[in-house]
Amino acid sequence: MPEPTLPAQFPWTPNRWRDRPAAQMPDYEDAAALAEVEGRLTHSLPLVFTGEIDALRAQLAEVAAGRAFLLQGGDCAESFADFNERAITDTFRVLLQMAVILTFAAACPVVKVGRLAGQFAKPRSALMETREGISLPSYRGDMVNGLDFTPEARQPDPRRQLRAYSQSAATLNLLRALAQGGFADLHRVQQWNLDFLRTNPQGARYRDLAGRISETLAFIRACGLDAATDPQVRQVQFFTSHEALLLGYEQALTRRDPLSGAWCDGSAHFLWIGERTRQIDGAHVEFLRGIANPVGLKLGPTVDPDTLLRLIDTLNPDNQPGRLTLISRMGAERIETALPPLIQVTQREGRRVIWSCDPMHGNTQETGAGYKTRSFNRILDEVQRFFTIHRAEGSIPGGMHFELTGQDVTECLGGAQDITEQGLAERYHTQCDPRLNASQSLELAFLIAEMLKDSRRERSLENPSNREENIAT
Ligand code: PEP
Ligand code: CO
Repeated sequence: MPEPTLPAQFPWTPNRWRDRPAAQMPDYEDAAALAEVEGRLTHSLPLVFTGEIDALRAQLAEVAAGRAFLLQGGDCAESFADFNERAITDTFRVLLQMAVILTFAAACPVVKVGRLAGQFAKPRSALMETREGISLPSYRGDMVNGLDFTPEARQPDPRRQLRAYSQSAATLNLLRALAQGGFADLHRVQQWNLDFLRTNPQGARYRDLAGRISETLAFIRACGLDAATDPQVRQVQFFTSHEALLLGYEQALTRRDPLSGAWCDGSAHFLWIGERTRQIDGAHVEFLRGIANPVGLKLGPTVDPDTLLRLIDTLNPDNQPGRLTLISRMGAERIETALPPLIQVTQREGRRVIWSCDPMHGNTQETGAGYKTRSFNRILDEVQRFFTIHRAEGSIPGGMHFELTGQDVTECLGGAQDITEQGLAERYHTQCDPRLNASQSLELAFLIAEMLKDSRRERSLENPSNREENIAT
């Protein structure tokens, strides 16, 4: 076994992870083809700019201090087949709607991060998938192999990394245009409502809120204040993220910033380590500790406080606020026993982290008909418990991490639309895990806005010095 990672004694380089055991990485048969792909990526343009990464870190530092809230969401896995303007625009739009609901209702700035433009590689619990007596390698995301259940499709092909890179570049180009080119202007808040939501109660509720925002903007303008024409109102800052699973790909896109000397992973603004790849001595922790991007760490119910502390100190040795987001994904049933000891150790040891809640991955179930699904009520239950636990511990519920889409799919059960087990078959489109649809996403955003508002109000009452910035009316 290699030595544990000790940042002070071992200088980091982008390829050091190669000496470590790497979980969940595909076995490529053709090493020459893999080397060629990684060589080409090394000479490709980074997708994000260092200044943007710094801006995200600064915004996340505000989250760590309780002055902003993190909203992260998007597909479980992006797909080569379902790659079109509509799907990207709809997901961007529903994230904007959720952000505006949270911002307005809880009077709290929201940091917007998509699981988009690079979320193509999947860790899997099982190496093989068996259907009708035939076993083939599991699907690991379009960046690795194909979803079709054939030996050819399931063979990992490194050239898929190049396609994922160009699809990410094109997606990011559209996202930047949407964020800065007028679509995201708050004056258009009414138009973000999706067509199929017009007759839906969430759509009506959103229309009402959008009307109040428009009135507020008109009022500000009438007062002669120029805040209504401020770039903050005309544009949004939208960041990208994905699980950093294929480390060869991540390494190839990592560049040294000539000014600061920092290594930035140019594949996305924010990268996270999955629940299955967070081994303290493993390749993923080794790679992510050295990049300057803000990083996330998924935490399932089996992690213990000592391991967490070691992971925190490896990934954020300088205890910088905004550098590390801990994303708990415990499941509604286990969060109450699993989360408090982890929060307590970070509080006791003074570690500055963001606590975000992924209420998706601990609440997955299979229906009798074989659909992988999640129920809206269990998702909501985990979110509610997350807020209650943070209140009891005196810590900050900093954000949410969702698998969602702007499309009108039927993948998660329940919600006001009351999607049933039979209803799942109607529009079950996901490549991997079940996503909240647009209506379920807005419904949840309205409910979370109330929880966030209460949490911020209580914290400002407890600590009157925060009052000015925290009070939510
Ligand atoms: C995911 O976010 O899609 C995922 C696989 O999560 P986790 O690592 O938490 O299981
Ligand atoms: Co998933």
